[in-house]
Amino acid sequence: MEHDFWHQKWSEGRIGFHQAEVNAYLVSYWEKMDLAAGDKVFVPLCGKSKDMLWLQDRGHDVLGVELNPNACLDFFGENGLVVEMGEATKFISHRCEDLNLLCGDFFALTKEALADVKGVYDRAALVALPKDMRADYANKLIELLPKGVKVLLVTLEFDSPQGPPFNVSVEEVNGLFGQRFKVEWLGEAVDGDRKEVIWLLRD
Ligand SMILES: C[S@@+](CC[C@H](N)C(=O)[O-])C[C@H]1O[C@@H](n2cnc3c(N)ncnc32)[C@H](O)[C@@H]1O
Repeated sequence: MEHDFWHQKWSEGRIGFHQAEVNAYLVSYWEKMDLAAGDKVFVPLCGKSKDMLWLQDRGHDVLGVELNPNACLDFFGENGLVVEMGEATKFISHRCEDLNLLCGDFFALTKEALADVKGVYDRAALVALPKDMRADYANKLIELLPKGVKVLLVTLEFDSPQGPPFNVSVEEVNGLFGQRFKVEWLGEAVDGDRKEVIWLLRD
């Protein structure tokens, strides 16, 4: 999926994926991650999600990565946070206290950038990508994430070849992540014609 696709969505305000409230599955299932305050949490393809504020309130350092510069700026502006910007290799960092959003391409991240990450929260990241890119995304996470990391993942199952979001089956989750992680089903909920499934991946 081309970067322009996402930039256009943001510039036209077609961001139906953005939730005005903190994600209910995050609130219900985060304790399963068993992380301590101070542990760093990585939020790939983060948009301007309020979930990052919730994670910060739990005492986590939050590192997001997001392609679109306005999404990064809006996150801080809409939440009344003063942002400090700086250049990092291939990224522009947007920081306020222990929240850091890297503006740039997820696929350009390095192991060093994620070296001290203890947890990952993926809501609407994997399912935002078409099939080939989902494999690249999972492989990149597997390559970059340090030993011992845990991942809270939300997927969608529904009957449509169109996307985003895309249908991601149980078999696909196991195929993408099973080579490294123990894949544990935590729960699911039906919302209209869609099923949302919550997973815990452990090293
Ligand atoms: C479906 S949205 C989900 C945003 C967020 N996770 C949420 O729950 O609101 C996917 C986001 O990924 C961003 N994105 C897409 N490809 C990316 C890439 N290669 N690197 C970084 N961000 C990307 C898009 O700009 C978009 O904001």
